[in-house]
Amino acid sequence: MKTTLLSIFQKIISRLHFVKSLRFRIFMIIIVVSYVPTLMMRYGILQNYENRAVSLRIAEVENQAKILANHLVVNNYLQNPNLDTINAELLQLSTLYDGRVIVIDQNFTAVKDTYGISEGKTIISEEVILCFKGKNSNHYDSHNHYIEITTPITLTAEVGNETGIGKIAETENQTIGVMLISVSTDNINTNIQVLDEKAQTLQLLMMILVICLSWFASKLLMKPFDKVTSAIGEVKDGFESEISDVPDYVETEHIIHAFNEVLKRMKVLDESRQEFVSNVSHELKTPLTSMKVLADSLKAQEDVPVELYQEFMLDIADEIDRENKIINDLLSLVKMDKTSSDLNVESVDINQMIEAILKRLKPIADQKDIDLIYESVREVNAEVDEVKLTLAISNLVENGIKYNKEHGYVKVRLDADHQFFTIDVEDNGIGIPQEAIEHIFERFYRVDKSHSKKIGGTGLGLAITRNAILMHRGAIKVESKPESGTTFSVKIPLTYVSK
Ligand SMILES: Nc1ncnc2c1ncn2[C@@H]1O[C@H](COP(=O)(O)OP(=O)(O)OP(=O)(O)O)[C@@H](O)[C@H]1O
Ligand SMILES: [Mg+2]
Repeated sequence: MKTTLLSIFQKIISRLHFVKSLRFRIFMIIIVVSYVPTLMMRYGILQNYENRAVSLRIAEVENQAKILANHLVVNNYLQNPNLDTINAELLQLSTLYDGRVIVIDQNFTAVKDTYGISEGKTIISEEVILCFKGKNSNHYDSHNHYIEITTPITLTAEVGNETGIGKIAETENQTIGVMLISVSTDNINTNIQVLDEKAQTLQLLMMILVICLSWFASKLLMKPFDKVTSAIGEVKDGFESEISDVPDYVETEHIIHAFNEVLKRMKVLDESRQEFVSNVSHELKTPLTSMKVLADSLKAQEDVPVELYQEFMLDIADEIDRENKIINDLLSLVKMDKTSSDLNVESVDINQMIEAILKRLKPIADQKDIDLIYESVREVNAEVDEVKLTLAISNLVENGIKYNKEHGYVKVRLDADHQFFTIDVEDNGIGIPQEAIEHIFERFYRVDKSHSKKIGGTGLGLAITRNAILMHRGAIKVESKPESGTTFSVKIPLTYVSK
């Protein structure tokens, strides 16, 4: 019963799914939830009334029938069914209850029928037989609106029983006939109808009240959400920077908290975008300014010696190279910021790849007398984008050379397990101060700007490296100690896993 009610309720709720408004749903749920009890109450009351009215009617008729049955016995009616007084009584009973009385004798013959139809006919029914056996019965037919009652006509005779101490007088009941009475329950049903009409009116009034109340309740429940929406609107329109003035409900508090967190992240993103744009402009402007200064100074002088021209032109060419490098780096970074679907993955011999990188960088290392050492623990073949990974590892080795001391070394070590391969790039150079480590992967970040300018760099190398490694679903970490050296460790899956 409980589960069927629950499933009906769930069905009703699921039917409500098409309604998108939460307020409307709350409104409908309250109506449904309150309608069911009023309906149950209405039917409960009507059923109760019907049961009670029917049992009262049965008791009343049975009483009357008993008295009448006595009269029949006393007046020996079964032998003399033409007795006017008794017939009048029988007729009175049937008229009173808008029904019918049939008197049946021991031979199952109807000696009297107030309808006058069945007189002389044999009437054998289960109820009549049971009544002769001493069991009177009643039956309510709610569909056809009548009650059928059987009452025994009982003769009480005195019998003498012989016992050891003499004759003892005892009475014995003998059923000599049956009264089969049908009474109409039309008036009970009329009462039920009147009562139902009243209950319906009452139910209608209650439903109107419930609809009004649930409308207000749904409005009241949704009010905090409306306030949150309007507060978000104010933030959107730029009147407020975050939501603060909304009533403290746990649910709305969660929404506001999440929204403010998103706002904070957006602010951070916006700040970093602004910083990036200003850094880019600054970096791009620097070589241009130098070139302008060089060109202006040549312009200002008359009869400039050719050697000075050549020297200034070399400087200008250097600045153009620098500008070119910055633009290329920025382009690589933008490419790496895109999704990993831009990766051109193929099976690559990582040993060969590293050897090629070191071969290319050897001349630069030689300039500073820096030893390039390669340690390969095993052969490694992995699914990677060779161009991007080469760029990433080259940046690390380049840094190892750039931020090193005379006669230093850069050691590259390749190893693998069954899942990942690792490349460690270790140097014994100038190292990175502890407080700078968390920033080195940021775009344009350089530990010592003056130092780096002398060495030449834009601070984009590690940002590019990190992006390339993340695109391969790998990781990069760094360990460094100022004045003793730095180690970058890269870990990448052997098999490329697309998300
Ligand atoms: N191996 C290293 N040893 C010491 N410092 C390093 C090392 N690698 C990076 N750094 C520091 O981190 C900073 C950022 O490095 P990153 O490679 O991103 O930029 P960069 O080398 O300055 O310029 P570029 O864009 O030309 O690579 C460097 O400026 C340097 O200060
Ligand atoms: Mg670098």
